[in-house]
Amino acid sequence: SPYRPLAGRRIVITSGPTHEPIDPVRYIANRSSGKQGHAIAAAAAAAGAEVLLVAGPVNLPDPYGVTVVHVETAREMLAAVKAALPADAAVMAAAVADWRVASEGGQKIKKDGSGKPPSLEFVENPDILATVGHDEALRPKLLVGFAAETQNVLENAQSKLVRKRADWIVANDVSAETGIMGGDANTVRIITASGIEDWPSMDKQEVATRLVRRIADFLGGL
Ligand code: C5P
Repeated sequence: SPYRPLAGRRIVITSGPTHEPIDPVRYIANRSSGKQGHAIAAAAAAAGAEVLLVAGPVNLPDPYGVTVVHVETAREMLAAVKAALPADAAVMAAAVADWRVASEGGQKIKKDGSGKPPSLEFVENPDILATVGHDEALRPKLLVGFAAETQNVLENAQSKLVRKRADWIVANDVSAETGIMGGDANTVRIITASGIEDWPSMDKQEVATRLVRRIADFLGGL
């Protein structure tokens, strides 16, 4: 029988982008394939956890053995995460849009012939990781965030750890030349209150397996 170190544990995972509507036919979004978050969900399920995956719009199948809630917007993602908590651990791998359009039009915005483009007003979306991190009733035993950065990776990740009250931040450099965005490989560092761990480059499945093993070590056996 396989080794199932997360048997009896509940894990909530977010993955993919969110889509924030501009009008009925347009949206703004972050670039995110969902590959890393979905791989973590699959690895956690394979390790025996009961996994609830809150997935934004992605072109990936639902991972085997995982309960998936499909959402579009950041607000829907937050509601689904809150409904799924508390849990033993949560891994927030989604690339949530920081802003949404203030007044989503009920009708498609049309060119008015003046040559003057429409202007959009934005409002800030809720920060799901920070909301959970600051809420004692929702907060899991282990809260893991991601930090995809194009510069100052370490500084930005460390400030996120503190600001969002995460226990660990998985940081990666997603500048174009790394090929990480949309690709199969990833190079990450794990930032915790007690230090930084550099992991070698490996594929996203392997990052998922190692992260899940580390989560299991942290939670311990039941
Ligand atoms: O600030 P930034 O978006 O880079 O932080 C990344 C981390 O915060 C990720 O774990 C991401 O899933 C989470 N996040 C979130 N809700 C947001 C923005 C980011 O949960 N609105």
